[in-house]
Amino acid sequence: MEKNNERIYQEFERRNRQAELGGGEDKLRKRHEAGRMTARERIEMLLDKGTFVELDKFVTHRCTNYGMDRQKIPGDGIVSGYGKIDGRQVFVYAYDFTVFGGSLSITNASKIVKVQTMALKNGAPVIALNDSGGARIQEGVESLTGYSNIFFQNTIASGVVPQFSAILGPCAGGACYSPALTDFIFMVRDKSHMFVTGPDVVKAVTHEEVDKEELGGAYTHSSRSGVAHFMGESEEEVLMGIRELLSFLPSNNLEDAPVVHTTDDIRREDERLQTLIPADPNVPYDVKEVIGSVVDDHYFLEVMPHFAKNVVIGFARLGGRSVGIVANQPAFLAGVLDIDASDKAARFIRFCDCFNIPLITLEDVPGFLPGTTQEHGGIIRHGAKIVYAYVEATVPKITLILRKAYGGAYIVMSSKQTGSDVNLAYPTAEIAVMGAEGAVNILCRGAGKEQRREAVEEYEERFANPYRAAELGYIDEIILPKQTRFKLIQALEMAHNKIRSNPPKKHGNMPL
Ligand code: HXC
Repeated sequence: MEKNNERIYQEFERRNRQAELGGGEDKLRKRHEAGRMTARERIEMLLDKGTFVELDKFVTHRCTNYGMDRQKIPGDGIVSGYGKIDGRQVFVYAYDFTVFGGSLSITNASKIVKVQTMALKNGAPVIALNDSGGARIQEGVESLTGYSNIFFQNTIASGVVPQFSAILGPCAGGACYSPALTDFIFMVRDKSHMFVTGPDVVKAVTHEEVDKEELGGAYTHSSRSGVAHFMGESEEEVLMGIRELLSFLPSNNLEDAPVVHTTDDIRREDERLQTLIPADPNVPYDVKEVIGSVVDDHYFLEVMPHFAKNVVIGFARLGGRSVGIVANQPAFLAGVLDIDASDKAARFIRFCDCFNIPLITLEDVPGFLPGTTQEHGGIIRHGAKIVYAYVEATVPKITLILRKAYGGAYIVMSSKQTGSDVNLAYPTAEIAVMGAEGAVNILCRGAGKEQRREAVEEYEERFANPYRAAELGYIDEIILPKQTRFKLIQALEMAHNKIRSNPPKKHGNMPL
């Protein structure tokens, strides 16, 4: 037959269209009817318009079991490639549930590994859009090997390029471990589920009756397990959330986060802060008001807002530069540190350090939570993670003591001697081994009421202030609350070119 370019191009277009239909029109329609987007629609929405470059569009599986050799779909259930977010390069892959339930084959795993490897080589973030029935059952161990290859790349890329996972449908079994190895997990309320074993297996093994939402829905993982970092009300909200988070981060560990010009005056003072911290150490306030007051344009992107609310973490900008904020929250459990709060803070500190994001610590902490639940749960090793993470972090570290800084919690919340660069305190700061009442209970056991009252007064006089720490140089400067924004920006500017590295080692042995 005579060669005809037109026919060749038509064949190419036909194959393209076929690949883009994934599991077929029927299945795509069913996705929409179920209120879900397709893999391609998700990528389109995530990336800057018209920037997606698809790779491996015609890859097919090589499985022959269960008649699979008669069911080959170009792309094999993964849409992968690269594109831009706010003009910055990113790599992306999306599971296509219309193709064998988005299940993982050794072949489509290789497509994922390809984008992971390219992202690492080119220093760009990787975004995974998960929606999968897990390992492709027809393939057996080959499919499992596909997961091994992905987990390997997740781990090697950890701390080199940011990795995000959106869970937009099911994510079951060992498949959960790829998202778990990435930096941030996003879930959609009522639409995404993650569990190592599903409700049926749970019932068979433990006789527990639990539905998939309670077992591994977005709210469960955002509020109870601490597995998810962000929960969206819709797929769109999650995809926009990824774009926003990326704006605070560098593309890799050798870069700084983008500087975002702001018209917010760096010297802006806020009189409201003068009265925000109650004089009575037992009266709570919302530390997010302090954060909101001082950061650029009052904008704070909170991470894990529903989990371990006694510590607040998140990103903001000061003078246009990204910072990671770690703050005790007096409005929840008096801001006490417990196991979950320790894990939450430590992992965030380490993320910021990986990616050159300076740390701001706002401290108002009565101590570690007492009790058998905490002790038997290992608060010792969990609490140790915070001190480990702060000491290890070489990014600029600024600490501001707002009010209480008691005991071990004072030390671990980035105290001067654990390597903090600038330590500030409000005049309302109280730096002591413990609160007045507790101290008097121990020091004046058996004392009468009047004697105790005097002892409390004397203790407060001696310790309920920042001056002893300032006399010793443990606090660099005492500042007025209204000056907070400018003082933090000055400290960050001072430490911007900080050079510090830890001794060479394979890696430390963090208490996990
Ligand atoms: C092959 C699969 C599949 C799988 C789903 N499908 N999961 N094909 N391997 N793992 C196919 C179905 O046969 C069906 O094909 C289509 O995808 C849609 O599935 P449905 O069941 O009709 O959809 P739905 O009712 O929405 O249920 C979705 C689901 C369910 C909850 C994900 O399919 C399910 O439970 N799948 C199995 C999940 C699982 O146990 N996976 C293994 C986990 S262990 P047709 O042709 O009918 O459209 C694991 C080990 C990983 O993954 C280890 C890593 C270390």
